[in-house]
Amino acid sequence: MKIAVLGTGEVGRALAPALLNLHHAVSVGTRDPEETFHSNETFRELLNQYPGIRLASFAEALRGADIVVNALYGPACVEILSQLSAALDSRIIIDISSPFNGRIEGAILNPVNTDSLGEQVQRALPNVRVVKTLNTMAAVVMTEPGIVGTADHSVFLSGNSADAKETVTELLYSLGWSDIVDLGPISTSRASEMLLRMWIDLYKALGTDLFGFRVVRPAKSDPHTLSVP
Ligand SMILES: NC(=O)c1ccc[n+]([C@@H]2O[C@H](COP(=O)([O-])OP(=O)(O)OC[C@H]3O[C@@H](n4cnc5c(N)ncnc54)[C@H](OP(=O)(O)O)[C@@H]3O)[C@@H](O)[C@H]2O)c1
Repeated sequence: MKIAVLGTGEVGRALAPALLNLHHAVSVGTRDPEETFHSNETFRELLNQYPGIRLASFAEALRGADIVVNALYGPACVEILSQLSAALDSRIIIDISSPFNGRIEGAILNPVNTDSLGEQVQRALPNVRVVKTLNTMAAVVMTEPGIVGTADHSVFLSGNSADAKETVTELLYSLGWSDIVDLGPISTSRASEMLLRMWIDLYKALGTDLFGFRVVRPAKSDPHTLSVP
């Protein structure tokens, strides 16, 4: 597949080479490719190591993409994606963004409770198929779940399109994920986005970002298993 990763931060830098290694064609979108190439040394090193990754403007990166990854700074992503609405058309957007000001000390999550970035992106772009996922772990863990325990921790999915969730599920399996929990429609992004509050406190308590959330549930035959009405 052709995958456009919008974002040159930790998430973009983790996902782009991982997807390239899985034989996808990968372009990475940035505000100003020249500026990023000259000023972002970490990204320049990545391009040297993986010459197959193409760095381009957001609009250029999107051209011909089957899947678009939203790895943009949360507070800015809805506006940026809205400006690209014609080019995005009905594509699948894997939305990894967090409603977070980026500061571990003094973290502010916005929106929360009654809205989420996943929903805001979906509302701004009614034709695209947003699938919220991979937003509940550190970037290095997203592409290598086996870096934590035995890779049996959970990754969540939220989205309104069953087809899009199926496509994203296949991609998650190929990245090494095995416990993929479909939470339901895009409104369930609220839950996974708010998990960031817990993630930040665990990060501070454990002193590492190498951990994952695992949902342990009863075996199907367990008489205490409840069916959700
Ligand atoms: N880092 C993690 O481990 C992690 C884990 C889970 C979720 N997330 C979420 O995933 C997304 C990407 O995270 P990240 O850490 O890779 O990168 P980030 O620093 O949150 O975002 C960097 C990207 O956002 C773009 N951007 C656009 N407008 C911006 C603005 N006003 N201020 C800052 N950046 C702007 C930057 O463009 P240029 O390329 O032009 O600089 C860059 O490509 C975020 O929403 C984050 O909350 C991150």
